[in-house]
Amino acid sequence: MSMVKGSVGTIVGETNPLAFKFLINKQVGRGTYIKAKAEGKDWILAQVEDVKRSNSAYSVNQLSDGARSYDSREMMIAEARVIGVGSNGKLHLPTSPARPGESVFIADEKLIKATLGLAKGDMYIGLLRGYDIRVELDANTLVQKHCSVLAKTGSGKSYTAAVILEELLDRKVALLIIDPHGEYASMKEPNKEGDFSRYKVKPRGYEVVVYTPGEMAMNPKADRPFRFNGLNLSAREVAKMIPHESSSSGQLGLLYEAISALRSETDAYTLEDIIDQVVRSNSKVKWNLVGQLEALMELGLFSGMATPVDELLRPGRAAVIDMTGIAPELQAMIVARLLTEIFEARKRRLISPGMVVVEEAHNYIPERGTGNAASTNIVRTIAAEGRKFGLGLMVISQRPARVDKNVISQCNTQIIMRVTNPNDLKALSKGLEGMTSELEEEIKRLPPGVAMLVSNEIERPITVNIRPRKSRHGGVSTQIVARERAGAPRGSRGPESRPVASARKSGSEKKSGKGLLKRVFGARIA
Ligand SMILES: Nc1ncnc2c1ncn2[C@@H]1O[C@H](COP(=O)(O)OP(=O)(O)O)[C@@H](O)[C@H]1O
Ligand SMILES: [Mg+2]
Repeated sequence: MSMVKGSVGTIVGETNPLAFKFLINKQVGRGTYIKAKAEGKDWILAQVEDVKRSNSAYSVNQLSDGARSYDSREMMIAEARVIGVGSNGKLHLPTSPARPGESVFIADEKLIKATLGLAKGDMYIGLLRGYDIRVELDANTLVQKHCSVLAKTGSGKSYTAAVILEELLDRKVALLIIDPHGEYASMKEPNKEGDFSRYKVKPRGYEVVVYTPGEMAMNPKADRPFRFNGLNLSAREVAKMIPHESSSSGQLGLLYEAISALRSETDAYTLEDIIDQVVRSNSKVKWNLVGQLEALMELGLFSGMATPVDELLRPGRAAVIDMTGIAPELQAMIVARLLTEIFEARKRRLISPGMVVVEEAHNYIPERGTGNAASTNIVRTIAAEGRKFGLGLMVISQRPARVDKNVISQCNTQIIMRVTNPNDLKALSKGLEGMTSELEEEIKRLPPGVAMLVSNEIERPITVNIRPRKSRHGGVSTQIVARERAGAPRGSRGPESRPVASARKSGSEKKSGKGLLKRVFGARIA
């Protein structure tokens, strides 16, 4: 067998236009991009999907023959999947299979970049795993055709999302971020940790305004309160803002009665007026409703100056709605009302185009059968029609199986990080074209900070080492757990094992919050 200089192997056996095998003579591993001669002067780009070792000396036949020179018979065969032929910067599938006997070479960066479609974009999100090749996405496509970031907790979803958001802010895109954990306020500050020189990243902070729908005093990170217009609310609007259990038909009727009475008396009424009116009713069930309405009023969401929607989408700026401390049902209702106002205003071109980011999306757009949320409809509408009106969507979730499939299927760019839950993997496989069992294995093993990128703009899924953030990462929950683990003596159980189950069983412990914390986290915290 003649060996061509620089080659890593020789094509053997049967080939077809989509795949070939080659005998390895130099180290290549899974994921390596390689090239082989196509017809004419072009090169076929392929990727090593699997490597197999065999040794004919150890086949059953040979062993019984008593063969001796065992080592020399070892073979390493790589299975390569063809990505395409790059000729003149364009990609097409080869019409004829690679020729057995041809040499295989490590692919050069230029071929990889051109063939995979990595040279088209302008948003730098990281480096192709194993290479020094920048992965650049097209900002327009990403915003207009929506984007999802799906992976288990702690794999780097919020970090990766923020990397993308930074690139969008650098391009003066307006962002509205629904932030359940108060993680995005830190985008104001430059990042201090990261391999900035390798990735060629310059730390910086961004223009971010943090809003709280609750009381300013309760949220130190908030810059401003977020308020809805509390004047002349309709019964339907009020009913949407109070929990389901309390909106029984009797109470709904009460609400309608009170509001129509107010309307006949005055042009302008407040939530307080509605409460007074309900109190005046003779109904026996009124107190429950009064309690709900008072809770809504105490929150302050409907008092004072309403936040103008045009303030929430400003080019080059992120408005963060920090939901810390807000009850889950209420969060979904706030999102429903807020996004409806944004979508309507955008339809009439009253506000800037931009992108809406929904963190922990399973809470706001649960898949049918896994929950209900008032916000589902409007997020679906934005997913389906947003691009017509210049409103993009990014959804982030740790439970792909529990997020509305309608919304996920509208996302043209999918960023998948480590997922191990079988249901979540199944949900991902269903939603992705060309998902193979090899890709599924790869997804299970992705280390933190490494993402698989699937997009119509890119020829096939690629794995990316996400670049360091320019702004500081504000994800706190994982750090608390990490610190807790580090402090625990060796051999003691981590926070997520046995004590949780016992805490759940014991009803009396559940009532005293302290007892529960003690059981979950051990004595040190409680
Ligand atoms: N690309 C990355 N580079 C460096 N650190 C990262 C990267 N991605 C994630 N991390 C680290 O991993 C931790 C978890 O990331 P995070 O985005 O908060 O997880 P998730 O949102 O998936 O729960 C963070 O504390 C962060 O420091
Ligand atoms: Mg997160």
